[in-house]
Parts: sequence; C-alpha cells; structure tokens
Amino acid sequence: MGPFKIADNIYWVGAVDWNIRDFHGYSTYEGSTYNAYLILDEKITLIDTVKDKLFDQFISNIRQVIDPRKIDIVISNHTEMDHTGSLPRFMHIIGKDKPIYCSKMGKKNLSLHFGDGFYYIPVADGDKLTIGKRELMFIETRMLHWPDSMFTYIPEEKILFSSDAFGEHYATSRRFDHEVDEDELFKQAKKYYANILLPYSNLVLKLFEKVKKLNLEFNMICPDHGVIWTKHIGKIIDLYVKWAEQKPTKKALVVYDTMWHSTEKMAETIGEALNKEDIEVKIMSLKSWHRSDIITELMDAGGLLVGSPTLNNSIFPTISDFLTYMKGLRPKNKLGAAFGSYGWSGEAPKKVEEILREANFEIIAPALKIQYVPNSNGLKQCEDLGKQMAEKLKKLN
Ligand code: FEO
Repeated sequence: MGPFKIADNIYWVGAVDWNIRDFHGYSTYEGSTYNAYLILDEKITLIDTVKDKLFDQFISNIRQVIDPRKIDIVISNHTEMDHTGSLPRFMHIIGKDKPIYCSKMGKKNLSLHFGDGFYYIPVADGDKLTIGKRELMFIETRMLHWPDSMFTYIPEEKILFSSDAFGEHYATSRRFDHEVDEDELFKQAKKYYANILLPYSNLVLKLFEKVKKLNLEFNMICPDHGVIWTKHIGKIIDLYVKWAEQKPTKKALVVYDTMWHSTEKMAETIGEALNKEDIEVKIMSLKSWHRSDIITELMDAGGLLVGSPTLNNSIFPTISDFLTYMKGLRPKNKLGAAFGSYGWSGEAPKKVEEILREANFEIIAPALKIQYVPNSNGLKQCEDLGKQMAEKLKKLN
C-alpha cells in the first residue's frame, strides 16, 4: 500500500501486514497494519515507524512523499517493536544525530532496545513542541499499554496520534473508518480492547477524565493499528468507556475442552440449562475457539463456567493456557464456576476453581466433578449448575 494523504501535509506512511495470524498470542485473522505518520512542516516530523520486517514498504512510502533525509524529527509514541522495529535502520538513513522525542520511560526503554547511540529527547506530560505552523502536544499515557506509551496531539487540526489506543488488528487497503465495513471494524476494535487494553481499564477511565478537563476535541484519531477514526469518533470513545467499566451483562460463557466427550456433555447440558432460563450463552470448546476470541466474548459476559477433564492429576493443557491468558487480562465483575469429568483422581475442577478465585471471580457453586461418563444423575447436577448461574445473572441490573 502506498502513502496516503490524510490531511493537508500529513501522510500515512505505514505498512499493511496482510498475512499475520498471530500477534504475541492474539489471533489476527484479519491481519494488521502498523501506522506511521509524516507531517510536512518547517520541521519535517515522523510519528512512529513499523515492524522491522516491513521496513521496505515503510521507507518506500516515505520516499514517494519526500527524501527521508529531509526528516528533522522523529516522535516515538511507544517502544514496542511493532512501532520501533524499523527505527534503527531508519535513523541510519536520516541521520543518527536527529532527535527522537519520546516519554521519559520511552528514553529508558528505547535505550534498552536499541542502545544509547541515538539522540533521545524525553518529554513530559503536557510538553509542547513547535514544528512550524503546528505545535505538537504530548500526553503521557503511562501503562496504556506500556510504561513508555504517550499520545501526540495537534491542537490546530484537532488530530490525535493515539499510539496503540483505539487500534484494531485489521488489514485493509482503506485508511478511514467510514470506508470499511462498520460491523467488522467494531468487532475488531472490541477484540483489540479485550486483548490489549482490558487490564488497564481503570487507567482508560482516568485518561478520559483528564482529556475532558483539557477540553481536547478530535477531528481525527490516528492509531498505530487499523483505520483512522473520523466518522465514528464519538461511538468508539463511548465504547471504550463501556468496555473499561466492564459492567456485567446477563450473558454466560461455557468454556471447556474434552478428552472422551464427557466434559463436553457436561458443558452442553450446562449451556442448555442457561438457555432454557433465557440467558444468552456461548458454548466454546478450546478445540475450536482461540483464547483471544473467548476473551472478547468474556469482556461483557457476567458469568463464566470452565470445564476441564483431569489429565495426569492436573488441568487439561488448553484450559491451563486459557486460564493463564485470561487471568493476566484481569477481567472484572464476573461470576464463575468449574466443572469436569475425571477417571480416578479428579483434581482439575477444583484447581480451575482456585484459579478463578485468584482472578477475583465470585464462585457461585462448588466445583462439579463427574467420574468417567455423566449418567442421568450427573447430567441433572450439570443442569442445576446452569440454573444456579442463570439465577445469579438474572439478579444483575
Ligand atoms: Fe502496537 Fe504495544 O504495540
């Protein structure tokens, strides 16, 4: 994809990664983009770079607009290598002594990634930098989602360069939100929030408070992944507030894996009981669903029931994987329960329950375990567990 003019003298010069399918454990079925932005002003400024493997696409985009050696300033909003992987090669082209503006933690983290051989200039929250007609303002967004993260804002044009925030892993030849399928766009934005920003939801809410106090207005929000927000700015901000608040809904997930279909029978019976009680339910086997898609569904669900067979006195490996991933993302305000079939020892459901408890789930019933294959009595216990969850969910406002 070639460079694209997004405003007067401002160009998208990033790269589209059509074929990436795994982004450090997050399934990216729709690929991704790494967005970099070039501002032509008295001091020519580049905001962020791209993954190292896409350097050629990135530098070619810049060359189609200007000679990269004319760039005076680089701004690094975030150190993670999908935005800095190309930085060292790029600096060697434009001149190693040119300044790289970044947050204080950015200076530290860039040094830890690429050494001290570049001219890093740390900026503080609220600092301003005049580049000609424009004055750039830096907004520190520490831990959204790395310690070094910051935004860059152009008050004159009301354009926010929001780093990872408001991103989507969504490869497209289009650059603006109104040019792509709206349902797909918001599906990808939700998945991105659930898998990247969820643990920092309190900070997201605080950031919105701060932005309100600063009276910042936005004509354009330019994230480092996916499309640029223009038409749907209000909607995506409202959704970020909703996702950050994590209010539980009357929806349950039954997540499981199975060895000989017994835990699967339990999962289906629990799910059916929830459905009969008019609770929206999704029954998700880890043989079919990726952990990152389950987290996306979990974000607004009120209840989670996790089923694991016992294998070698422990939790089934795919369930351990899911629970580790989920615990790290720190979902809030959830009800939980564990279940599973076993042969002779049956440790898994109890261990799952302990992990749910550690993850601050409210456990609604003791772990349910059934030996070998559930009979009618066992299936009745599964039904009761589903009903118990339904009763609790119905009480939610
Ligand atoms: Fe897109 Fe945190 O990097």
